[in-house]
Amino acid sequence: MPKVELHVHLEGSFDAARIAELAREAGEAMPYDKESVLSPSNLDELLTRLDWWCGLVRTPEQAERQAYDFATRLSADGVVYAEVIANPTHWSALSRDVLLEAVSAGFARAAAEGLCDAWLLVSLLRSQTSDEAIELVAALERRPPSRLVGLSIDGNEAATGPTGERFASAFELAGTIGLGRTAHAGESSGPEGVWSALDHLRVTRIDHGVRSIEDPRLVERLIDEAVTLDVCLTSNVRLLYGTIDLHPLRQLVDHGVAVTINTDDPATLGVSLTSEMELADNLCSWGVDGAIDATERAIAASFASESKASELRRKLDAFAAQVT
Ligand code: ADE
Ligand code: ZN
Repeated sequence: MPKVELHVHLEGSFDAARIAELAREAGEAMPYDKESVLSPSNLDELLTRLDWWCGLVRTPEQAERQAYDFATRLSADGVVYAEVIANPTHWSALSRDVLLEAVSAGFARAAAEGLCDAWLLVSLLRSQTSDEAIELVAALERRPPSRLVGLSIDGNEAATGPTGERFASAFELAGTIGLGRTAHAGESSGPEGVWSALDHLRVTRIDHGVRSIEDPRLVERLIDEAVTLDVCLTSNVRLLYGTIDLHPLRQLVDHGVAVTINTDDPATLGVSLTSEMELADNLCSWGVDGAIDATERAIAASFASESKASELRRKLDAFAAQVT
C-alpha cells in the first residue's frame, strides 16, 4: 500500500551499525554497547542519546547520506510521502543552515531517483527560549531550506511544562510565512499540553496527543476544530503505557478524532510504518479499508501542496481499486 508518514524524527533513524560507523569516523569510543545503544529506558535518556549520535555527524556529506538512506528505507517500506522532523539542537557539530541544506539535499536526491518524497519539519526543542524560537523562524524565512514544509516542537514536556505561550510568537510568524504547524503534546504532558498547543500555537496537528482521551472537553475540541493526532503506537507503549492494551487509539477513533499512524523513532523502536499499521489494524480491526482511510487522513493533514496531495490521492485510489 502507498503510505504517508507525518511524524518521524530523522534523529531516530540511525541504526546501530551507522552509529558505530560514525563513532569510528569521529574517533570516539562507543559509550553504549551495540546491543543496548538503541534501547533508552525513558524519554530523557532517548533525548540524551539523540544528542550523542547526531553529534557524531561532523560533515554535511554525512548528514546528506543519513537523509538519503532514510528516504531509501522509507521507500522500501512503501512510504511514498513523508514529513520528517529534524531538530538542529541535536546536531551539535554542524551549523543549522548547513545541516538543513544537507538534509534537504539528501531528500531531493532520493526524490529525484523516484524514492520516497521526503520533506522537512524543522523542530524547536521545548527547552529553548522564546527568542531562540523567533530567531529560528526568522532565519527560515530569510533562507528557507529547499525541502521545508513546517515547524514543529519536540522534547520533554514533563520537564518544561506546557510551552504554548513561550512559542506563540514564533508559531505566529511561521503561519505568516506559510509554514505548516505541528507540536508534540499529550505524550510527556497530559491534556494541558494539548490545550496549550491549541490555544497558543494554532497547530493543525498534534504529534502524539493521545493523552487527550483523559479530557472529554478536549476530545470534543479536537473533533470540532478538525485537529489530527499523529499517533505512534510502539513509541507510546515504550515510553508511556507499558502495554498496548492500555493504548487509547481505539477510543480516540470511536469518538471520531482524526488519527494517523506513524513510527516516531523507527530505529530505536525497531518498527516500520507497515508494522505500526498492522498494530493499528489489530487494535481497531479496520482492515484494508481502514488503512486506506488512515492514509487519506494523513494526506489531508499533510503540509503538501495541492498538486502533491492530488498526486498522492491518485496513487491511493489506484491501490484501492486493485484491492477493494
Ligand atoms: N524526540 C524524538 N522522539 C521524541 C518523542 N517521542 N517525544 C518528544 N521528543 C522526541
Ligand atoms: Zn515524535
